[in-house]
Amino acid sequence: MSKYIAAIDQGTTSTRCILFDHSGNIISVGQKEHEQIYPQPGWVEHNPVEIWKNTLEVIAIARINASATAADIAAIGITNQRETTVVWNKRTGKPYYNALVWQDTRTTELVAKYEREGGLNQFRDITGLPVSTYFSGLKLKWLLDNVEGLREDAEKGEALFGNIDTFLIWHLTGSTQSGIHVTDVSNASRTQLMNLRTLQWDASMLEAYQIPEKMLPAIKSSSEVYGHVTNEILPGVPVAGDLGDQHAALVGQTCFEPGMAKNTYGTGCFLVMNTGNELKTSENGLLTTISYQFGNQPVQYALEGSVAVTGALVQWVRDNLGLIKNSSEIESLAKTVEDNGGAYFVPAFSGLYAPYWRNDARGVIAGLTRYVNKGHIARAVLEATAYQTVDVVRAMEQDSGIELASLRVDGGMVSNQLLMQFQSDILNTQVVSPAVAETTALGAAYAAGLAVGYWKNTEELKRNWAIAHTWNPDMEEETRSRFYKGWQKAVTKSYDWME
Ligand code: G3P
Repeated sequence: MSKYIAAIDQGTTSTRCILFDHSGNIISVGQKEHEQIYPQPGWVEHNPVEIWKNTLEVIAIARINASATAADIAAIGITNQRETTVVWNKRTGKPYYNALVWQDTRTTELVAKYEREGGLNQFRDITGLPVSTYFSGLKLKWLLDNVEGLREDAEKGEALFGNIDTFLIWHLTGSTQSGIHVTDVSNASRTQLMNLRTLQWDASMLEAYQIPEKMLPAIKSSSEVYGHVTNEILPGVPVAGDLGDQHAALVGQTCFEPGMAKNTYGTGCFLVMNTGNELKTSENGLLTTISYQFGNQPVQYALEGSVAVTGALVQWVRDNLGLIKNSSEIESLAKTVEDNGGAYFVPAFSGLYAPYWRNDARGVIAGLTRYVNKGHIARAVLEATAYQTVDVVRAMEQDSGIELASLRVDGGMVSNQLLMQFQSDILNTQVVSPAVAETTALGAAYAAGLAVGYWKNTEELKRNWAIAHTWNPDMEEETRSRFYKGWQKAVTKSYDWME
């Protein structure tokens, strides 16, 4: 039996390859950041060619670090930043345009047009999603309407669409052409083009957004052998797992029962609750989405609360304000003060996602007095992550009727003790982090490993999960409710900037 499973985690800011062993332990890691391209306010792009090159590089690094040959690797699983939209030519593999990143808001006017014509919730029943700049469908429409020659090529079947999972699988399984053109149900559920019940591209959505079906990938389960790597980096290794990154984290956290939820603290925050075989429609601004589907087993649904900007706010404070040199310094700066000094930071840089869905919102700092110093701002920056999570948890509890007994957390910001304690305090809920913190990559590895028999079943995976750290709430109810009211008021100040 081969020794390892390889996972590629293609995220918003970097690409990683991690090799896992049978116990879910990390054996080696390769990681590389890529450029964030901001051509205009609100526009966010990535260069897909750079991402593909980085993918090859990080696989090579992970292999070298573990002295692993291709034969040591039983399968490879892909997980990716979701919604980010790429179009490329089927013969040359060359992208027609940079990837439009999920945070990109260039489709704000298109959103307003659909809102006027039928309301933001007109496609919710079919797709589980509101009309928003967030999802791939409108990004793809923008590309088809604005990139010269693309629509003609798409109608001829020459131009292909994919999220980053599809783009990477196509390149891994073909040389410069003839790669396998697939995605999985979890990624497809974020395009706003898939019907959540039939798990097929929905003809009425393709018509509404004017998308030629010929350019779309085949929709597969999240765990099956899609094809084999042809590139010399891992020749012959089966590509056997594909999950959007938040869905992968749910799998990595082994949230296999209905009612189990995880929150990932990355560029944004994504709280996902498994709702099992049941497709639940949200009454409180959450998304209905797919959790995962393993092979030919029934598809599992989820409710999700997506928050666009959390860790990205720390990076912004570092890069755009220069308040800190490294992201990790935000915690020590925040610790120089007792509380936020009355200041609240609402980071609505890409509008506000769940549960508000205000495309017209933009960032604000509210409650400033001369008393406020940079420590208070650092604190407000961290607290913004916790408050946005509370908004989503409260909506989740109302939709599901389940009160969260404890919240499983993961992602880069979990190492921030001040934030995690504040999260537990302000939620009034226990917060727990797992021993293997790389749950996203682990989930992709699990999907791939299940497909090739490296792991037998989900029971085996559950045995790999263990607690690393627990935070318990320690805040007076009066304080909690006063702080949260301040946040709710600040949120209303971010509205209507785009009018
Ligand atoms: O929906 C966007 C999300 O998938 C991005 O996740 O971890 O790359 O910021 P991350």
